[in-house]
Amino acid sequence: MSYSTLPMPGMGTFRLKGEHARDAVLTALDLGFRHIDTAVMYDNETAVGEAIARSDSGRDKVFLTTKVWHTDLAPESLQASIDGSLQRLGTDHVDLLLIHWPSPNQSVPMSESLNALKEVRDTGKARHIGVSNFTIAQIDEAIDVLGEGELLTNQIEVHPFLQNHAVVEHCQQRGITVTGYMPLAVGRVLEDPTLMAIADEHQLTPAQIALAWLRQRNVVPIPASSKAQHLQANLDAMTVELNDEDMQRIAQLDRHQRFADPDFAPKWD
Ligand SMILES: NC(=O)c1ccc[n+]([C@@H]2O[C@H](COP(=O)([O-])OP(=O)(O)OC[C@H]3O[C@@H](n4cnc5c(N)ncnc54)[C@H](OP(=O)(O)O)[C@@H]3O)[C@@H](O)[C@H]2O)c1
Repeated sequence: MSYSTLPMPGMGTFRLKGEHARDAVLTALDLGFRHIDTAVMYDNETAVGEAIARSDSGRDKVFLTTKVWHTDLAPESLQASIDGSLQRLGTDHVDLLLIHWPSPNQSVPMSESLNALKEVRDTGKARHIGVSNFTIAQIDEAIDVLGEGELLTNQIEVHPFLQNHAVVEHCQQRGITVTGYMPLAVGRVLEDPTLMAIADEHQLTPAQIALAWLRQRNVVPIPASSKAQHLQANLDAMTVELNDEDMQRIAQLDRHQRFADPDFAPKWD
């Protein structure tokens, strides 16, 4: 099977390591997740690969994403990075390869990194390519380099407390799917009174309300969990319909609260 769009939801794997990561991914696949998000930097590709190999779902039913770190964006390093990822993941291709963060201070020009990324796709090691943590200006520059329709996604932080409207809408207008990372604000959504109230009204959980809100903005959520009950809840959230009033109440929660902001991050929009 070959996916042309990103299955919703994906399963995030940041912070999951070793057997813990393997068991969580195996549980997710058994429950019906079809999209797993890893990265070289997460140091869990071997565990993710083991889970996919052990799962009944089979490699061809899993949309598998990995990412190349910003220190490996020079063409030779990028090629070595994907080769290492494929070896650890135990597969001959990933479904999506992302540039994890833009090159700080453009130390590797985008024309070099993006053309190297495209070469990975052209040689069949990645079915699709994309970026992560790119600003509006960087998205436009990337499209100038590669042309329209080449990048599948921009993976960025999106949750009710960082709604990221400008970047989301710009990417969507330019034909790039937005993937929302930290969709549960790393657990903070669970304690929010507005989300708790909406959850009560729907007899759901605040986490499910947050994920349904992302889906209704056409943002692909990739929540991480190691618990079967939470993984199942996250799958079920994709069939939840929020009404206009729910969406408006959640719109009020935006406070530009960013959780992923390392010192090498770009100047955010
Ligand atoms: N591209 C990037 O730069 C970037 C940066 C950060 C993250 N990411 C990706 O985005 C993924 C998600 O981000 P994240 O893991 O930092 O944060 P997150 O998904 O917002 O939150 C994860 C936390 O939520 C809990 N949780 C999950 N489902 C739940 C549910 N249904 N009910 C209650 N609690 C629930 C988990 O605990 P339990 O284990 O107890 O369920 C975990 O503590 C990462 O794993 C990674 O793949 C990408």
